[in-house]
Amino acid sequence: MCGIVGITSNKQVTNSIINSLRKLEYRGYDSAGIATLNNGHINEVKSEGRVDVLEKNLSKSNLKGNVGIGHVRWATHGVPSTVNAHPHSSEKVSVVHNGIIENSTILKKYLIKKGHQFKSQTDTEVIVHLITEYLKKDDLKKSILKMLKKLHGSFALGIIFKDEPDLIIGARRGSPLAVGYGPNENYLGSDSYALKSMTNKISYLNDGEFCILKKDSVEFFDQKGNKVNKKILKLSSNEQSYEKGDYKHFMAKEIDEQPTTIKNCVNEYVDKINKEINIFNFPWKANEISSVVLIGCGTAYHSCLIGKYWFEKLTNLDVTVDIASEFRYRRVKFKKDALYIFVSQSGETADTFAALDLCNKNKVKTCSVVNVVESSIARESKFVLPIHCGPEIGVASTKAFLGQMLVLYILSLKIAKMRKEIDKKIYQEKINSLFDLSKLTNNSLETDSKIQSVCSSFVNIKGSMFLGRGLSFPIALEGALKLKELAYVHAEGYPAGEMKHGPLALIEEGMPVVVLAPRDEYYKKTISNMQEVIARGAKVLLITNKSKDEIHSENIWEKIEVENTSEDLLPFLITIPLQKLAYYSAFKKGYDIDKPRNLAKSVTVE
Ligand code: M6R
Repeated sequence: MCGIVGITSNKQVTNSIINSLRKLEYRGYDSAGIATLNNGHINEVKSEGRVDVLEKNLSKSNLKGNVGIGHVRWATHGVPSTVNAHPHSSEKVSVVHNGIIENSTILKKYLIKKGHQFKSQTDTEVIVHLITEYLKKDDLKKSILKMLKKLHGSFALGIIFKDEPDLIIGARRGSPLAVGYGPNENYLGSDSYALKSMTNKISYLNDGEFCILKKDSVEFFDQKGNKVNKKILKLSSNEQSYEKGDYKHFMAKEIDEQPTTIKNCVNEYVDKINKEINIFNFPWKANEISSVVLIGCGTAYHSCLIGKYWFEKLTNLDVTVDIASEFRYRRVKFKKDALYIFVSQSGETADTFAALDLCNKNKVKTCSVVNVVESSIARESKFVLPIHCGPEIGVASTKAFLGQMLVLYILSLKIAKMRKEIDKKIYQEKINSLFDLSKLTNNSLETDSKIQSVCSSFVNIKGSMFLGRGLSFPIALEGALKLKELAYVHAEGYPAGEMKHGPLALIEEGMPVVVLAPRDEYYKKTISNMQEVIARGAKVLLITNKSKDEIHSENIWEKIEVENTSEDLLPFLITIPLQKLAYYSAFKKGYDIDKPRNLAKSVTVE
């Protein structure tokens, strides 16, 4: 949510800031802006809309400078507009901000009394005026410390000053911030991806820290202003995975990458020769864990819901699942012998991070399943299990969902073995079937023509339902979320068995309903529920797996059959057609698939 970048250099910085903003656009895309320092003046160019629009405006403005900050916005306070776009500046200071200042109304009143005039509806502008006010009496460092102390809420900041020709301040609380090191220049960015084309040397600010960047030096400080030493990390350079290649959209590319990412993840965690799971350094013994709590948001929450089924079945542990934004505000009883697992693609989701932080403060066992290994969630958890998917750029999560499910499944097998809850032969069979999974997902990718022919029925409708039981219920939730997010069609995922307790009233003639009925232990029951919706006029798209057994139901509108595998792994195969259904429905409507309206990839505000 919002992306920030800053560069201090001995060269002109505008073009490099624009390039970084393009990389950060996945974090917010309703407006963008840039401010530079030139001959002792702060100048800014801002525009509503995408970075492309900003670039056009820049070409007319001749903005110059060796020091600058840039921003892409996902609106929180104030509508998306040029005036609300960042940076926000006074004559002395210019600020870009990611996050929310919760006490902005009180601070604004105080600053207005002091004679400050506000131009925008944003919470960010109070930061500009606070610093401007403090600079009247105090030096730069003291003013920054005083300003940071006044703010409540979450933020990552980039700040430049009229009277400091070579300097950028970066500060973070809650929202992520990285520093990059280059030859005669240094950088600030919301993530390393934004800086990757300029440097592979990165440090991360910890919560509460701030930094002073000059073109040839970087200093870090804690919230009291004491100097902090930082490690410089070297990033691997794999620029190719950040490009679309021949694909029209990142989402299409990321869906197609799933067989490869599954293969990589299985190779990483499963020893093919010894038929064993390679999680050697798992820090806890079997008798130290008596329950599991899975926590995430959105798609990651759905993978937690599936994880619950596997953990319960295989490990015989008590398992609960929580939405991070609820967990963090409830009166949770923390259990010393519970394992708290945090699932997040980005590793930066504000609510998931806050839930983790709460667990760490209560000194319980924390483990994370993440894609971005340098992320805040990965860095703050006691134990990290990366999903090895490579960068996921499309806002809709696809390959990360399969990766999260896979790692949770592998972990549940590992704990089942540790607890001696799984028969040796069954364990070996389950490990063996993991090696075939990549190939089988390949076949699920070949459903395009069928999906393309049905998707027109999902385009202009009042709503749709996605039904499933057991492991297919969370997949139904995920299929509905994808359709909402991309095609802006109301869709609801529901446990098939719950339909007659209310939602059946929604079914009317011609309503498209997706029924997920792989041939698992719930199959017959789901087919009965399918008949009930067909009887009430629904057009059913059935997704099942291949079998010699006939499906005893008439009037199915369309059927997609994925390959056969073990019951545990069928969720992987039936997810892919649902990702494609959402993709093609959005495509038909001409929507921006990689950047759906109102959304952003990394949700760093609560
Ligand atoms: O980065 P995270 O996995 O923590 O993100 C969680 C959700 O914001 C995310 O999965 C969101 O629901 C996706 N846009 C869904 O496609």
